[in-house]
Amino acid sequence: MYRTIGLVGAGNMGTSILQGVLKGRIAASGRIWVYDKIAARAKLFARKTGAHQASSVGELFRHSDVILLAMKPQDFQEFAAESRGFLRKDHCLITILAGLSTAGILRAFGKKVPVVRAMPNLGAVVGESMTAICGRDRRSLSYAEKLFSGCGKVARLSEDQLDLATAVSGNGPAYFFHLMELLEDFAAKQGLPRKVATELAVQTAIGAALLARGADVSPAVLRQRVTSKKGATEAALKVLKKKKFGRIFRQALTAAVARCRALRKNA
Ligand SMILES: NC(=O)c1ccc[n+]([C@@H]2O[C@H](COP(=O)([O-])OP(=O)(O)OC[C@H]3O[C@@H](n4cnc5c(N)ncnc54)[C@H](OP(=O)(O)O)[C@@H]3O)[C@@H](O)[C@H]2O)c1
Repeated sequence: MYRTIGLVGAGNMGTSILQGVLKGRIAASGRIWVYDKIAARAKLFARKTGAHQASSVGELFRHSDVILLAMKPQDFQEFAAESRGFLRKDHCLITILAGLSTAGILRAFGKKVPVVRAMPNLGAVVGESMTAICGRDRRSLSYAEKLFSGCGKVARLSEDQLDLATAVSGNGPAYFFHLMELLEDFAAKQGLPRKVATELAVQTAIGAALLARGADVSPAVLRQRVTSKKGATEAALKVLKKKKFGRIFRQALTAAVARCRALRKNA
């Protein structure tokens, strides 16, 4: 099994994933190395968690079995050019970079090593990510599954399904934020204090999500159960149906999948 993890990019996602790893005791802080272009960021994380700060890319690669790539996609090519000389055949690369294919990553490093692509979401920050992973190597895939289970749930998919997962769960928190935003805005504009309006929207989302997670029936059945005949919920849902909310939302998701494909082609 891999023993040490090296994080490249101590930003929002990378540090959240590693916080989950530490909290879930998936790896001890002494087995984690962190490198960031902005040294102060890596230093802060290292000081907070007891992980090691790598002062250079070479040091990170030397100490780590698994390299977790968590910088922005636009910074990847430069990083690969700088670090390809340090990549060993026994390294494993785990990448959360949106839109960069396995083939593109291997091409940039010019070496054949196991690669796992992962698409987590912002839920990782609170240990509630939904992460889709794909890869061909069984050992690294099992490791990645364990790693991401520290910050939420994990699903194994094929690489051609990853764009779909990006559109649904990768981008997903934004759709739910938007719905909360609409509920909050309506309540506030109708006269509720903004703070109360926000609480109504957010706490309702939490309750609905927890109910859906614990239920042994689908969200569709839950919705039907709370929609009494001729009631207020039915009145609202009727308008959504009439105005073809479902169709509009499917169009939005189709646009997101298409955008992922286009970004991947240009990468
Ligand atoms: N946020 C999401 O919901 C989400 C969901 C799924 C996947 N992702 C993926 O997660 C990745 C990270 O996103 P994020 O929101 O965590 O970004 P972020 O907070 O900007 O973190 C990226 C960090 O990497 C650093 N960095 C850039 N180039 C580097 C290099 N060559 N070597 C070392 N460190 C470098 C950045 O420094 P500078 O600030 O100086 O550039 C920054 O500290 C992205 O690739 C994104 O596609 C994000």
